[in-house]
Amino acid sequence: MHQPVGPPFSDTLVRRLREADRVAVLTGAGISAESGVPTFRDPDGLWQRFRPEELANVEAFLANPTLVQGWYAHRRALVEDVEPNAGHRALAALERWVTARGGDFLLATQNVDGLHARAGSERLVELHGSLLRSHCIDCAAEADESADARGPLTCQACGGLVRPDVVWFGEQLPEAAFAQAEQAAALADVYLSVGTSAVVYPAAGLPLLARQAGAYVAEVNPTPSDIAGRVSEQVRGTAGEVLPALVAALGGASGIRGQESGGNDG
Ligand code: OAD
Repeated sequence: MHQPVGPPFSDTLVRRLREADRVAVLTGAGISAESGVPTFRDPDGLWQRFRPEELANVEAFLANPTLVQGWYAHRRALVEDVEPNAGHRALAALERWVTARGGDFLLATQNVDGLHARAGSERLVELHGSLLRSHCIDCAAEADESADARGPLTCQACGGLVRPDVVWFGEQLPEAAFAQAEQAAALADVYLSVGTSAVVYPAAGLPLLARQAGAYVAEVNPTPSDIAGRVSEQVRGTAGEVLPALVAALGGASGIRGQESGGNDG
């Protein structure tokens, strides 16, 4: 006997989104998994092969700048070679749907891969910075990194070491970006937490803040995150499957499937 297969989310989520004046979203590495970018903590994740303390902090960088620059050059080459997926595009479509109705929308991402912007998201804050930019640690000048440089890359202006514009362990998140994300979480009627294991704070605290402030919080993840027990609804599935279906249920499907990465520069 067949059970009819419905969407993996509730009617309540769809209704709450329809009624919402303010929608906010947090994404993590899982949203980019279907583009072919490895996550950090899944079995084939980046932290299985590399230890964060060896690569993603300033002491590691100063001890071995060539190694750390090389790791980021590798990740940059990887993301430049992939495309945003249906999940990224659905979030851009959700933003258009909310804002067309006069609502507020904010997407806060922990990802540094630039794929949300390439998919057309505009109300976007990058909580952990971006792989696609670099700067000099001495004079702060923006630097142009080339992936095949040998030896440590140095600043053309002052000779200082060049580092990626990402937030490393032990560093503060960009203040304005985090304040914006916090405000959006505190005011949201509906909050979506997508593709994050929710173990790295302060970002992982955003869905909890939203819930405490009264939002309906839905987690989209094939497996339960660290905060799964504290959200309003757990939607089990991949971002690339769930988010287009959710936007379609709102009647905002146009422009997700078949639209090739709006804003893509390459
Ligand atoms: P993680 O690797 O910790 O978690 C990825 C999450 O995505 C897991 O919960 C997976 O179950 C889920 N996932 C996998 N495939 C998915 C799919 N197709 N659709 C939806 N979800 C999927 O990555 P983050 O939570 O982003 O920080 O990690 C947070 C931070 O830890 C990163 O920003 C990075 C890392 O250390 C810094 O580098 C500062």
